[in-house]
Amino acid sequence: MDEKVMVTRSSMPDFEEYTREIKSLWETRWLTNSGVKHRELEENLCRYLKVENLNLCVNGHQALEAIIEVMGLKGEAVTTPFTFTSTTNSIVRKGLKPVFCDIREDDFTIDADKIEPLITEKTSAIIPVHVYGNICQYEKIQKIADKYGLKVIYDAAHAFGVTVDSVGAGSLGDASMFSFHATKVFHTIEGGCAIFKDRAFYDKLNEYKNFGLGADGEIEFAGSNIKMNEFSAAMGICNLRHIGQSVSSRKQAVLRYRENLENVNGIRLNAERENVKSNYAYFPIVVDPEKFGKTRDDIFTALAENNIVARKYFYPLTSQNKEFGGAYSASETPVANKIAQRVLCLPLYEGLSNDTVDRICGVIKSL
Ligand SMILES: Cc1ncc(COP(=O)(O)O)c(C=O)c1O
Repeated sequence: MDEKVMVTRSSMPDFEEYTREIKSLWETRWLTNSGVKHRELEENLCRYLKVENLNLCVNGHQALEAIIEVMGLKGEAVTTPFTFTSTTNSIVRKGLKPVFCDIREDDFTIDADKIEPLITEKTSAIIPVHVYGNICQYEKIQKIADKYGLKVIYDAAHAFGVTVDSVGAGSLGDASMFSFHATKVFHTIEGGCAIFKDRAFYDKLNEYKNFGLGADGEIEFAGSNIKMNEFSAAMGICNLRHIGQSVSSRKQAVLRYRENLENVNGIRLNAERENVKSNYAYFPIVVDPEKFGKTRDDIFTALAENNIVARKYFYPLTSQNKEFGGAYSASETPVANKIAQRVLCLPLYEGLSNDTVDRICGVIKSL
């Protein structure tokens, strides 16, 4: 049997580089609570992403929950069911009702033309997702938000370093969340951040992430504990040094996939846009069973039989999560429902060789 291929693999700096980075922690003994590494990484990320008011957190999910809380969002949030469950869970866990909007067929992001009819007097926010690093229709979404006085919070977990019209994804809307999970293009082992347009929310998150502790030592409100520790921040400092190499290695694999699969009848590849600089985070394919002659699940199984792990990402829709008890029908978002049945993310990570990509595509084409 050929060597096992995982769907993802974490990028890592050289062992020596990382140990050099953390050595000073044995002298300072300052391991968390906005230490030197934490502050340095925040500054480096602001420079790299061309943003301000970036606040590091223990992971992306908690950053999203924190954004919802510090911005005081209540009532309903218009969002997408075609996402990782973290987006929906954050909304629910912060006491809001998710209102699910359908997605666009071509780039899988929320369909801005379908948002307006979903807005009620209870709506406080639109929470879209830059799925696979595809940037949402941000101008249309902003117009709607301005018309109804809503906040726009982007789940930008997939969009690290992506720019649209030369603007960083993190600058869109009122706030964005990035995930720095170990499997992401850029990571801090576990980690994430919130980026705010308004500095006041950055300051409030500093309190929220440290139990609600204010500058004068009083507890301003019932905050949480979601601080990033120094070892994670040090990993981020190292990984950010090599982000260019990491993205270009992924790009090479993506180009090889495209060469292999772009003319296969019944397999649709992620659309590329001229005004978007990609981070090559994922390689989703959409399988049309009528044209391809086999289903997404057939491909998934054939790859597994060949020791290759692909991921049905995203499937099922988050509107089908058990906690909703069937309150939302998948047919209310027909495009999202169809894509969730047909999409498959193929292995993609830094260092994925052309030979391995050819092997994966060979299995698909043999079907
Ligand atoms: C779309 C999306 N939202 C949210 C998250 C949550 O991020 P984290 O794992 O850093 O908590 C992830 C990734 O895991 C994600 O892919």
